[in-house]
Amino acid sequence: MTSPSSSAFRVGLLGHGTVGSAFHALLEERAEAIAASVGLRPELSGVLTRGRGDFDDIVERSDLVVELMGGLDPAYEHVMRAIRAGRHVVTANKQLLSHHGEELYAAAREHGVQLRFEAAVCGVVPVIRVIHETLAAAHIQRVHGIVNGTTNFILSEMTTTGASYEDALAEAQRLGYAEADPTDDVSGRDAAAKMAILARLAFGAPVHIDHVPYEGIENLSAEDIAYARELGLSLKLVGSAERVDGGIAVRVFPTFLYAQHPLAAVNGSFNAVTIESPAITEITLSGPGAGGPRRPRRCSATWCRR
Ligand SMILES: NC(=O)c1ccc[n+]([C@@H]2O[C@H](COP(=O)([O-])OP(=O)(O)OC[C@H]3O[C@@H](n4cnc5c(N)ncnc54)[C@H](OP(=O)(O)O)[C@@H]3O)[C@@H](O)[C@H]2O)c1
Repeated sequence: MTSPSSSAFRVGLLGHGTVGSAFHALLEERAEAIAASVGLRPELSGVLTRGRGDFDDIVERSDLVVELMGGLDPAYEHVMRAIRAGRHVVTANKQLLSHHGEELYAAAREHGVQLRFEAAVCGVVPVIRVIHETLAAAHIQRVHGIVNGTTNFILSEMTTTGASYEDALAEAQRLGYAEADPTDDVSGRDAAAKMAILARLAFGAPVHIDHVPYEGIENLSAEDIAYARELGLSLKLVGSAERVDGGIAVRVFPTFLYAQHPLAAVNGSFNAVTIESPAITEITLSGPGAGGPRRPRRCSATWCRR
């Protein structure tokens, strides 16, 4: 039933792949609930893929443009043109933000539109909103976390089954947790892009992905995992951003964690981010890092386990 008081809010969708099609389905399924909550009823105004839709026409007919194409080209130009046309933009594109965030934030400010990107880091875990809004005045000292579900799945698989890196990667690909070309994930570059975005939000200073040193998991072996286990430690790919000597240090590296560490129990494709500030001590947010809707799983009070 359509809410009589809600007016239409036109949403143009750029990209209709894994995330775009899941978003499209959710938008239709939840339109009435959104209308009841915010008084605006979202309606799809157009879809752009390589073989479908016209970009200018979609922007013309939209109040909000949602960019789910990925990559830098033509995503950067499309997002910039949508902002300059006075459209609000939502994007899940971490590469775009970690390369061109400053230009895009500035353009959005100049044109009085919102640029939102919650899904660019940690999938459905609302870490962007918490850092940017909830903790805006908390003087965050450090943000660290597991921000790549593919590598966390591979390391969990190596830990629980004793599998080699190659076999665990093959299993991740078979289950759809890793892409056919997993380079961005396993090299740590995807996590570096996400940490650049989180550091920019947490500390209010520009952080480009080229300023984030990173190392991935390609060179880890079953022996490394066995060694960690022997010492009662977990081996995780951890991204860290912190204030150091008046500056900021951001990096991504495989890290040994003691068993009681909040990130040590984050397994499978789950993500988790811990935020530290003298005002709040620390909080850890956790949940699924990628993919479409899943059946609910049992959760503990602080984090979910897979
Ligand atoms: N997958 C995840 O779980 C996940 C999670 C968080 C964030 N993200 C981010 O979400 C974004 C989308 O990821 P995805 O996995 O959904 O990608 P995807 O499955 O590869 O889908 C990309 C979509 O964009 C369209 N597209 C690509 N280049 C285009 C171009 N030049 N012109 C017009 N359309 C173009 C593709 O069109 P065709 O259909 O014609 O090929 C396709 O519909 C990325 O930025 C990714 O980093 C993904």
